[in-house]
Formats: sequence, C-alpha cells, structure tokens
Amino acid sequence: MQIKSFAEYEETYRFSVEWPEKFWAGIAENFLWRKKWDKVLSWNFSEPNIKWFEGAKLNITENCLDRHLAKNGDKPAIIWESNDPEKSSITLTYKVLHEQVCRFANVLKKNGVVKGDRICIYMPMVPELAVAVLACARIGAVHSVIFGGFSAKSIADRINDSACKLVITADGSFRGSKQIQLKEVIDDALIGCPTVEKVIVLTHTRTPVSMLKGRDLWFEDEIKQVDTDCPAEEMDAEDMLFILYTSGSTGKPKGVVHTVGGYMVYAGYTFSNAFNYQPDEVFFCTADIGWITGHSYIVYGPLSQGATTLMFEGVPTHPTPSRLWEVIEKHKVNILYTAPTAIRSLMSYGTEPLNEIDLSSLRVLGSVGEPINEEAWHWFDEEVGHKNCPIVDTWWQTETGGLMISPIAFVTPLKPACATLPLPGIQPILVDEQGNEIEGNGVNGNLCIKFPWPGMLRTTYGDHERCKQTYFSTYPDLYFTGDGCMRDEDGYYKITGRVDDVINVSGHRIGTAEVENAINMHAGVVESAVVGYPHEIKGQGIFAFVIYPKLHNESDLTKKDILQTVTRVIGAIAKPDKILFVTGLPKTRSGKIMRRILRKIAEGETSNLGDTSTLLDPAVVEEIIEAAKKL
Ligand code: WTA
Repeated sequence: MQIKSFAEYEETYRFSVEWPEKFWAGIAENFLWRKKWDKVLSWNFSEPNIKWFEGAKLNITENCLDRHLAKNGDKPAIIWESNDPEKSSITLTYKVLHEQVCRFANVLKKNGVVKGDRICIYMPMVPELAVAVLACARIGAVHSVIFGGFSAKSIADRINDSACKLVITADGSFRGSKQIQLKEVIDDALIGCPTVEKVIVLTHTRTPVSMLKGRDLWFEDEIKQVDTDCPAEEMDAEDMLFILYTSGSTGKPKGVVHTVGGYMVYAGYTFSNAFNYQPDEVFFCTADIGWITGHSYIVYGPLSQGATTLMFEGVPTHPTPSRLWEVIEKHKVNILYTAPTAIRSLMSYGTEPLNEIDLSSLRVLGSVGEPINEEAWHWFDEEVGHKNCPIVDTWWQTETGGLMISPIAFVTPLKPACATLPLPGIQPILVDEQGNEIEGNGVNGNLCIKFPWPGMLRTTYGDHERCKQTYFSTYPDLYFTGDGCMRDEDGYYKITGRVDDVINVSGHRIGTAEVENAINMHAGVVESAVVGYPHEIKGQGIFAFVIYPKLHNESDLTKKDILQTVTRVIGAIAKPDKILFVTGLPKTRSGKIMRRILRKIAEGETSNLGDTSTLLDPAVVEEIIEAAKKL
C-alpha cells in the first residue's frame, strides 16, 4: 500500500480520481474480509447517502488483532507509559492484547450488551481504554468515547443523545500533577441518564468511590468470571463502529458516526502511507483516545497495520519539561505525531530540556489539530528532527475519519507549515461564498471535498437532517469542511483556520455558541459573546464579552464564578482565558452580534474595525474598546 516516490504519488493520485472505485477496491484488498463487497461505492451528497464496500462482511478487530497473531503474536502492540516516570511501563503483545480484548468482550456480553448497543467510555489513558474500545468492536457494540476533561453535564447529554446502555470508567485519572475523579463525575452524570443499566469501574488511582448496588461493577472482578474465547461478531461494512461527539457552530455537540469497513480501510491506509511506518518501528501519537486522532492513530490505524503504538498517560511537561523527550528516548520512538500547541509549549522552555537526550531513533514527525505556525515548525524540524525527519502536517477532522491533506513522508516535497497535497482518493475544491469553484493557483477560498472517501462520516447520530444541514447544504453537492484554505502558486494547500464559529483551543475544537450557552446559564448574566483570539501557546484562546448588570465591586470573584459555571456545564477545557464585562454588545439592526468587531477587539486590532454603519448602537463599540484597555 505504501507509495515510494513522488512520481508514484502523482500517478496514484491521478488513478484514484479517474477510477476511485478501482483504486479503493485495490486498497481494501490489503485487509481481512469474511466476505468481499458486492459494490464498492454508492453515494449522493444531497441526502447525503454514502455506502462503501456494501455487502462486505468483516470484524475490525480481526484486522487489528487476530490476523497478526500467527506471525506477530509476540510483537508489542501497545506500549504504555505512565503519568509517573517512576512507574514501570507496560507492554501488551498482540497475543496478550487479543486475549484481553476477548475477555473484556465477554464481560460486556455477560452484562447484556449485544450488537448495536451504545457504550459510553470515560477512562484515563491506560491500556484498558484501548481494550474497552476494541472489546466493543469485537461484539459489534458502538463505542462513544468521551474525553476525560468533560463535565458531568456534557457526559449526560452525550449518553442520552445516543441512549447508552453501559458505561466503562475508572475510579480516577492522573494528568500531570492533577487527578480527576472520573467515577464521581460519572455518578453525577448518571443522575439524569435513565438508559444506563451498568457501570464497569477500573481501579487506577485508588481513590475511594461509591459503588451502587445492582449497577456498578469492578472491572477486576468481572474479568475473572469469563474466559478468553470470544469469536468476533460478523459485521456489515456499513454497520456503525463508533460515535464521537464534536463541536460545531451551533449549540449542541453532534455525534459523528463512523462505520466499520470504510473507516478501517481509510485509517489503515493513511497511517501506513503518511507516516511511512516500517515493521518493528514504534509509533507515538500524543493525542488522547477521547479525540478522533487517538481513535484513528493510537488504536485503529496502527493496530490494523500490525504496528507498535505507544500510549502515554501523562502530559509532555510533567514532572519536568524533558518528559516527552525522555519518553521518546526510553522507548526508542521512531515516529512522533503531536500537536502544534504541545510543540509551542515545549519550545517555550528552550532547548535545555533536550540536552543529553538521545532522539536519534526519530525518523518521521507529524503535526495535527490546528494550523502550525512557521516558528514552531522550524523548531520542531531543527531541534527535534535535527533537520533529518520529514514533518507531515496532517489536515483532517473528526468527520473525515483520517488524514485528508497531508505530505507523505519521504515522498512529498515539503514546505514549512503547509499541509501540502491531498492524499490519493481525496478531491479538494475551493469555493467562494456563493459556492462557485475558485480555480487556478495562488487563491484563497472555503475548503470543500467533492467526492466521497471511505473514512467519511455517514450521519450524525439520531439526526440525519443535522448532518445534511451542517456539512452538505452550505454548498450543494459538496462536503463543506468549515475551514478556510489557500492554494499557493505550486498548487499546495495551506489551511488558514475555521471560517465558522468554531475555535481551536490547544487543538481542541470548541463551539463559541456552546461556551456562550454555558456562560449564559450563570445567574446574573444577561448575554454573552465568545470569540477566539491568537494565543501564544494554545493557538487560540477564548475571549468572552459578558453583559452582567448587577456587578458590584466583586468583578474578580464573579469572573471566577463564571469559570466555575463553564467548568460545570462543559468542562475545564472550555474555560475562557479572558472575560470582559460590558454593558452592551455590537449588534446589527436585526439583532445579530457582529463578531467580526469583537474578534478585532479581542486581538487588540482596534484601529481598523471596518464598516460599523449597520450597527444599532455604534457607541457600544467605543465603550468596549475602553473597557478592553483596562483588562
Ligand atoms: C483544524 C482533528 C490546520 C481544522 C484531527 C479542522 C488543522 C479541525 C489541522 C478539526 C492542520 C486539524 N492544519 N488546521 N494540520 N488539523 N485542523 O475534528 O480547523 O478535532 O477543521 O480533528 O482542526 O478538528 P478535529
């Protein structure tokens, strides 16, 4: 499957556009199917209705586990590195991982889980998380993994949206110097979740937890009661594999749905190619499995290719700014896949933490989650890669399932801070506001994709209309990404950032409307408007303009109260970096908030605010500018 030269890439790309079905059928031949497909693709973007490999039967865990056993049973599948550097790491060979997955799949079955049931997973970054994910896939249950930073209310909303039957969690999790009481959060969430029948709790932090009779079970007890024989459920290619909730420009997060066959082919193909993975190499993706990057490039992509994937529980700079480098040295990592926000944070400590650390095992570097700035790109290239490792700047989304526009390591000629060219099978197109195609090079536009690819979302859970409205209605017959993009003189693509009301904070996608709703829930708040602004480490920070008339002299305390509210409603990841109390917001005569103006104020760019003549009350702008100066 691996492309070896740029000429081969060009040839493959041409073929994939001209003969997409032949191309993807050829790629799919590299996977294990119980029965091959009757039809490679049927699709339209108007409903939308997308089906890949229809009629095919498979189980993704047979591709990720069983098929490697004969030759690579003793090869490390997962290497786990603890948050605590003193604690020994754990290696799970393919044989052991297979056994654990089968065992835990039997636990799920014993607790009444059947094919199609939705299972919520809220766990620390420990091997049992990967085991839980794969155990669901083994028996055809649909996993919905929720990142450990979300609040009880966010979890309850997600559990209810997809009517989850069972929750898998742990007593708590470690992250750097912090501990999160996961079970406590789950207990709070479940007060409002009538569909949940059972909760399986892993012991990890050894914090005391309450265990509800008849509902809560210990992971350790359960696995003792089952055996390790669990035949994989036969799945249709288009059966649901997982739901992953993500933020959009409107209030409520939506459950992006991925299906078994197409997702597997796409995650595996893109993993193998973009990173040029070689047998026996160690691949290290620093994301959390709670995000799509972890799903596709810690679990499914690497394991489908028989790779060794490193799971790191901690954070790059704890207990010292050398930690990430030490992990790489210790496990002789060959491929490092991380986010610009992590690079910038490491960079802020200078090169001292890198001294005396042997990074010579590194061969390929990768970046994901947000546009990478040139300074960070060069630092990564020089100080980490020693100008010897290609950097693949991979652009993609929860909805796309896998990498879309990205260099292929050792194949695509690179440009700093540039996602370069579409991978085979991906047909990007730039359009203007009216949806007209912008042709030629040296142009800017809104990024859309005009032809389906196997890893794309199929629907948003329980609300197909929302999927259609969000992605397929802005521009007819195109998938709209929500991103702005430049195609440079050489035809290279450079992502410029979101063009909708989504902001990207430390590589985490957050809807401004979601944060506003949370702030507005605080007593006393009349209205709020949230925008992103450039943040040195996080990429974007959250700036909240809040109307709060009854403010006395306690504005600092009130700010803290508001942060508490946001933490309760969404989670700590959505806390505003700055809060400004204002008496009014700039609105048009039709009542729409002019975020463009607020964005400029948040950026400190008040000299040229553009046309403000359509504002209901232009004086409000002056007031906000004055207030912002004092912040
Ligand atoms: C942004 C993460 C620039 C983009 C895989 C996209 C990027 C959103 C890049 C998806 C990149 C991701 N360069 N921007 N290499 N990668 N993005 O769903 O705005 O968490 O729409 O998926 O992140 O975020 P999500």
